[in-house]
Amino acid sequence: MARPKIALIGAGQIGGTLAHLAAIKELGDVVLFDIAEGTPQGKALDIAEAGPSEKFDGSFTGTNDYADIAGADVCIVTAGVARKPGMSRDDLLGINLKVMKSVGEGIKAHAPDAFVICITNPLDAMVWALQQFSGLPTNKVVGMAGVLDSARFRHFLAVEFDVSMRDVSAFVLGGHGDTMVPSVRYSTVGGIPLPDLVDMGWTTQDKLDAIVQRTRDGGAEIVGLLKTGSAFYAPATSAIEMAEAYLKDQKRVLPCAAYCNGEIGVKGMYVGVPTVIGANGIEKVIDVKLSKDEQVMFDKSVDAVKGLMEACKGIDSTLA
Ligand code: APR
Repeated sequence: MARPKIALIGAGQIGGTLAHLAAIKELGDVVLFDIAEGTPQGKALDIAEAGPSEKFDGSFTGTNDYADIAGADVCIVTAGVARKPGMSRDDLLGINLKVMKSVGEGIKAHAPDAFVICITNPLDAMVWALQQFSGLPTNKVVGMAGVLDSARFRHFLAVEFDVSMRDVSAFVLGGHGDTMVPSVRYSTVGGIPLPDLVDMGWTTQDKLDAIVQRTRDGGAEIVGLLKTGSAFYAPATSAIEMAEAYLKDQKRVLPCAAYCNGEIGVKGMYVGVPTVIGANGIEKVIDVKLSKDEQVMFDKSVDAVKGLMEACKGIDSTLA
């Protein structure tokens, strides 16, 4: 059977890391696309030349022509600009919305059957715009944020409790921005919910609150350290986890920016929610029950995403 085809739209920091991870994991043949001439070709060749040492098979090509993504099974979109210190993800909206239009049209013309994972920020508004511009079904267009935000939360918790990250389960709901909602009640260590661990004296409520806030600020913390761009290792790993769930029909339960049809009180828009990813893309949005406090925080986050969608509509009147 032919290897799956993975198109990476954007060959910058995240795009290059995605290509390397896809190679190491032998997920399929990789096509890197970018508007910058030479960048996707150079990165593809560089990664292909790692094959003999890493012992992976597959074809790695770079292109500036959308025709070369034809028939892709998965498209992962990182095209656009990343933020610099002092910028919020929302500051990227104007530039990246235009990029989503050209990317959406490219995918529509050449890879209409692909499972599309958007990473470009501001994520929840960009994935919505990308779905509209591409016209692909909503279950096949999804945003990567929750896996990354949850991974950051899990990392901070594992360090606090001095336990393996494998045994920390957590998920983060809402928009991928300052209003995101790390779910304390639904996060566990070895199956023990975080509030119980506070009661058991493993940590204090203050320390837990600080970890929740650090999770919300996780992206900005890295932007502040790097100074020249934003995070790329963990974002790439998170998107690869989602791509693998789709390609291998793993039915993984992963938090993603998914199109909601009434789940958790959200209709007709994208926001971070727990989902099931398998061969049919987003196979289920999990209609998780929130407490009163959680619902208030979640609704605030949904409103922030709605504000970004309105800003997009103000820029591009074809968005409905
Ligand atoms: N079509 C294709 N590629 C484009 C386009 C376009 N219209 N516009 C820009 N690009 C390319 C750039 O040439 C660059 O190679 O997108 C790439 C972006 O790479 P980086 O600047 O390195 O950004 P990266 O760190 O990979 O982040 C990409 O993901 O997490 C988000 O906020 C982040 O929106 C940003 C995106």
